[in-house]
Amino acid sequence: MSEPSDRELREMSREQLVELGGELDDVAIASKTDNWPTRGTKPEKRAERAVAAWFVVSGLLALAFVLVYILWPDRYVVPGQDGYVRYSWYTPLLGFTFGFSVLALSIGVIAYQKNFYPDEVAVQQRHDGPASEVQRVTATARFAEAGEDTGLGRRKLLRRVLLGAGAIFGVTAGTLAIGPFVRDPWQGGDNAALWVTGWKSFNEETVYLRIDTGVLGEIVRVRPEDIVPGSMMTVYPFRESDRGDKELLLAAERASDSPVMLIRFRPGTAITHRPGQEDFHYGQYYAFSKICTHLGCPASLYDTQNNISICACHYSAFAMNEGARVVFGPASRPLPQLSITVNEEGYLIARRDFVEPVGPTFWEWRAG
Ligand code: FES
Repeated sequence: MSEPSDRELREMSREQLVELGGELDDVAIASKTDNWPTRGTKPEKRAERAVAAWFVVSGLLALAFVLVYILWPDRYVVPGQDGYVRYSWYTPLLGFTFGFSVLALSIGVIAYQKNFYPDEVAVQQRHDGPASEVQRVTATARFAEAGEDTGLGRRKLLRRVLLGAGAIFGVTAGTLAIGPFVRDPWQGGDNAALWVTGWKSFNEETVYLRIDTGVLGEIVRVRPEDIVPGSMMTVYPFRESDRGDKELLLAAERASDSPVMLIRFRPGTAITHRPGQEDFHYGQYYAFSKICTHLGCPASLYDTQNNISICACHYSAFAMNEGARVVFGPASRPLPQLSITVNEEGYLIARRDFVEPVGPTFWEWRAG
């Protein structure tokens, strides 16, 4: 068929444009039924209110998410201490409010589509190439017509509720951007939790390697002879100033960046070091973060025959005798190595904190 001129196009009504668009696109409407042929009936209003209710629920949950994020206490509280139950609800509440907000919004959209979209069967022939100007104009008209058909233009309640829910939902997404200004992760300057791990020494106090016996308060520091060649043990940081303070001891054990694998290689094991970390070990003793650099699982399934440590989550494998470099799997960088030595009492100690980020990611991390 011949395409109309620009002037003819401008003079056509929306219905004519819709019809023309269908013809140009080889679209044939096989059938079309309006769900609500009589406007303003009680069942229609009931359906409208039901859809609106879902958008209201979604908006309220999104608002609850923002309030929980800003007001709920998120500082770590040791189990058994005052405030622990409240603290332990922080993450579940964030997940619940955001997840169910998305769910309610989705149910609202589906209910709207089911109740108010006309039941239409259309058949279109395929054709290639970019759309012409006429096709673009008519496609726009068909979108507008679809909006009219679904009644969004005249359903004020639905439109307002949808806009309100969308706005609150937008605020929820914006919370992610403004979150750091509300809860500053850099509070504490150079000693902010993001910069340091439990292995950092304050006031030059010695940080020992300690094993977890399962009895809180029982302190077992590690000596080189405590670990046989070709084996690995998990150790945690310990300071004498923490002794007797169950809260500090537990916090040191529970911190996600604390666990370290202490490995004693067999004599004769071929070992290579990462540049600049040649003196991080003590003889055959090497210490590496246990936290996988992929997504943070414990990477400590240690194969003593091949000196490979595997993370069971997604099977990243690290060659521990080669600076824990990644030899398989999705992890993108080696496990960070902790610099250790033995003090004059004969205990293994940390010489300094980790010199690189522990775990899967970091606020200031740049790949490459
Ligand atoms: S978390 Fe270790 S491989 Fe994914």
